[in-house]
This record gives sequence, structure tokens and C-alpha cells, in this order.
Amino acid sequence: MSFKNDFLWGGATAANQYEGGFQSGGRGLSTMDAVTGGGHGIPRTITYRTKEGKIGTSPVDSTMSGTVPEGAVGYIDPDVYYPSHVATDFYNNYKEDIALFAEMGFKCFRMSINWSRICPNGMYEVNEEGLSFYDDVFNELLKYDIQPVITLNHFDMPMYLADHYSGWSSREVIDYFVYFCELVFKRYKNKVKYWMTFNEINVLTSWTQIGIHDNSPQTVYQALHHIFVASAKVVLLGHKINPENQIGMMVACTPSYPMTCDPNDVLEALQFNRNREFFMDIQVKGYYPEYKLAALRSLGVKIEMDDRDLDLIRKGTVDYIGLSYYMSTVSSTDPNAERTEGNQFLAYKNPYLETSDWGWTVDPVGLRISLVQIYDRYHLPIFIVENGFGAADHVEADGSIHDDYRIKYLQEHIQAMKDAVDIDGVNLIGYTPWGCIDIVSAGTGEMKKRYGFIYVERFDDGTGDFSRKKKKSFDWYSKVIATNGEKL
Ligand code: BG6
Repeated sequence: MSFKNDFLWGGATAANQYEGGFQSGGRGLSTMDAVTGGGHGIPRTITYRTKEGKIGTSPVDSTMSGTVPEGAVGYIDPDVYYPSHVATDFYNNYKEDIALFAEMGFKCFRMSINWSRICPNGMYEVNEEGLSFYDDVFNELLKYDIQPVITLNHFDMPMYLADHYSGWSSREVIDYFVYFCELVFKRYKNKVKYWMTFNEINVLTSWTQIGIHDNSPQTVYQALHHIFVASAKVVLLGHKINPENQIGMMVACTPSYPMTCDPNDVLEALQFNRNREFFMDIQVKGYYPEYKLAALRSLGVKIEMDDRDLDLIRKGTVDYIGLSYYMSTVSSTDPNAERTEGNQFLAYKNPYLETSDWGWTVDPVGLRISLVQIYDRYHLPIFIVENGFGAADHVEADGSIHDDYRIKYLQEHIQAMKDAVDIDGVNLIGYTPWGCIDIVSAGTGEMKKRYGFIYVERFDDGTGDFSRKKKKSFDWYSKVIATNGEKL
């Protein structure tokens, strides 16, 4: 059998795309609350108010990169539809949803805690109602023996910290975040064992994700340095509070191939891939690698550090590597190479691969290659915490949904995981396909781009009754779990 008996089969979501309840239970505002829906090819926008009181918007492109001008604050326009406000309403449906996850046989469920539900303005005020909401959710999961897998920060932050501190560009935010993590580590000590600090840490460049007001390399790397220190502190604290805690890092794994064997293309791909490895080098090995220090010097970036920072980074390394994998990309030095769309990264077209309707390549072998390379380099357990196929599903007259394309994508990727385990000896501990129930797309803000085994009646114009339906993939995935991945 390829996968261990305790292999963590499950599904993954994030608060800003699934939870909703944005004004319920004492929750504070979060940056994503000011991000509008977009559409395929139509960028999402951040709505903001300037110091002078003018209302403005700025685009968030499909790489999630978007900022608001210095001094401006997030603004919620009462006449605009913001997908995160209700999302697919886990807040009011969590019992029904968790029962469906249990029916599929989930061993774990990945979700994020919304920081502003616990600390409404991100600082030291604590919202008991928020804490007890997650107590209820975790109790419900544990009732079915489903382990919660918690992302402490998934692409959002309390709006107050973005507005008043420029988010992670301020060092103070480290302490606020550590305070929030300490609260949840202590509160959920007997309920949660698997944690991740920052989702897709290698793509954090925007106001919505990290509250920064410009995305110059200086600002981004200074903010990232604070995030590395915070993550290291949180790992150390989490281990102290409960030595059983398993705390991982999480990286967006979009590997790049050289377009040709021209050494220049090979070098280009190497540099692209290093931009990802940098984050694993820091959080797994515990130091700034030489190639990044050289790159920062040539960019003229000077990171301000406290004396203890590097020591903390050295000590606060993670227990496992969490990764998302959707697609691969191609690096080319040819200015005329054809481009396609991509997950957080703009990519060149790979003539050997098919793409989804959103232009994302389908490359299961790329997953196996990545698992091998990452395991060879770091020798830490790997947890695939996101993988999936975004598609527009069609509901038949009888209510059935035949998502064979999704089944095919997942079959091929699970086969690649098996090969990585059986043939390459990779230590893989779990698999949580993305958006196991339909949620809002991060890149486009759409509901039309669906990933789930469970369909949610919710549409891009804000209509829909939120009812849930099983898709064909629901039964298929249940069998996969029941046979521990033997029957694909
Ligand atoms: C990952 C993110 O980049 O990709 C998720 O961690 C996101 O938040 C997922 O939803 C899929 O991307 P999209 O744009 O199709 O929702």
C-alpha cells in the first residue's frame, strides 16, 4: 500500500473564501472585506478612502498583487458586492458541511482562522464569541474524528492593522500576531495538532494579504522579514504550549521548466525556482541563503533587523512542508514566447500540456517532480494542502453534476503522489484537495470557478440559496479515501 495507514485525506478551504459571517459574532473588519468580485479576465478591486475622503479603487490582479495609496484606508461601499462577506457561508452551515465531509470519510479538514474574528482590530482586544465559534467548529469536526488542520494566516489580516500600521511593514505587527497565535494555541490545545503559519508565503505582496501600501522590493522584503520572525516565534511558542503540535510552513509550488535547453532558459528557470526555494530555505533550514542575500544587495534592499532575529529564525524552523500544487510553468528568455494565465504567476505556454478553462496547465508529472525535489532538498514530511481543478460545473435538470474532468485531474495527481511515495521514497503525510466544497476563487473572486466535491448554490451576482449538492466526484473521492488511495 502506497500511503501510510494514518495518511491525512481531507479537503482544504480558507476563511476569506468560505466562512462569511463578516458582521456576525463580534468579528472585526478584515482586508479582504474591501475586495470586490472580479471575473475571468476582470480584475478584483480594493475599495479605499483617501485621507482627503475620496473613494477610490485599485486593481488586484490574478497574482493577488494590489495595494492602496499611502494614507488611504480600506472602505466598504454599501452598494457593492464583496464575495468574502458571505462567501459560501460556512458560518451558518458548518454542521451540515462537516457532516458531508464525514460522509466522504475525511480524516482531516484544513481551514484558516480569521484573525479579526478573534482580535477584531488585530491588537490585544479579545472576542470571546469568535473563540467559541471555532470551538464549536472543532468540536463538530472531532465528533467525526476529523482532525482540524489550521492555517493561522490565509491571505487576509485585520483591516485596522493595514490601515494604521501599513500591515506587516511595521515590526509591531509581529507581537500582535504572536499574541493572536498564543490565544488560539492555548484555547485549542486539546483540539488541534496540525498548524501552518502563513499560506503561500512566497506570494505575499499585496495590501489585502499583508497590509502594505506599496509593493517595492524594499517594502515587500522588510514585511517578509517580519513575517519570518513572527513565524519562527510562533513555531517556538506552539511547541512550548504543546510539544505534540506539528507546525508547518506553506509554499505555493508552481515549478518552472526551461522552455528550451538554451542555457539561458535553464538559468531563468533556476532563478524562478529559487524564488520559491528561498522561503523553504528560511523556514526549514533556518537562514537567509547566500543567493538571496546577493539578490537583495543587487536590488538595493536593506532589511532592518533586531539582534535576535536571525537566532529566532535559526531556532524556529518548521516540522513539515505544506504545499499547494495546481500547475507548472515555463521560463523563457525569448521575448516572443506565448504566455498563458497561471496561479499567482504569469506563465509561458507549455506545448506539451493541456490547460483548464482558466489557462492553468494540467501537469501531474510536475507534482511528482516537485515532491522529489523538495524531499531530496529538505528531508521533511510533505503535506499537499492544496491541489485541484477549477471549472464551471453544470447542474443537470435532475440536479446531478457530472464533474468527470475534476475526477480525471485528481486521479492523475493522486497517481503521481503514489509514484512519488512508491518509486521515489517521498514521505508524504496527507492530501487536502482545494475547495472541497465550492468557495469563492481567490484570484478572480468568482463563484463560477469551482473546485468542490460539494456544489453550493451561490452565483457571481450575489444570488443563490446556499443549498448544498453532491457532485459525481463526491462518491469517487469517498471511495479513494475508503481504499486509502488504492482505487482511483
Ligand atoms: C492558492 C490559494 O493560490 O490557490 C487559494 O492558497 C486559492 O486561496 C487557490 O483559492 C486557487 O486559486 P483560485 O484563484 O482559483 O481561487
